[in-house]
Amino acid sequence: MAPPLKQVPSAWRGAILVCGKCSKKLDGGFGKKAQTPLAKLLRKLLGLGKGRKATLGVVETRCLGLCPRGGVALIDGRAPGTWLVVPQGADVAELAARLATVRTVPADQA
Ligand code: FES
Repeated sequence: MAPPLKQVPSAWRGAILVCGKCSKKLDGGFGKKAQTPLAKLLRKLLGLGKGRKATLGVVETRCLGLCPRGGVALIDGRAPGTWLVVPQGADVAELAARLATVRTVPADQA
């Protein structure tokens, strides 16, 4: 019999998946100098904590299979039915505000 799974608590209310390969193709592509990766800028603008103490996880992933030209593929884990493509140089503050306002489901009601 396999040992029981270990459970680790987290403050995350959702997870944002950002394609790291798209970001690499754009050499960052966001911020003042257009050199900051989208995930890093989102974490900064959302003022999230670190690791599992953050209220929202922003995770850079491998290729998501969408591979948009001149943009970065992003999935909001709270609304996985609609994937987003963030064009290079887009207003990330606007995106951060949008992601911050999505209603989250408390862990005990999920
Ligand atoms: S390279 Fe980003 S989705 Fe494929």
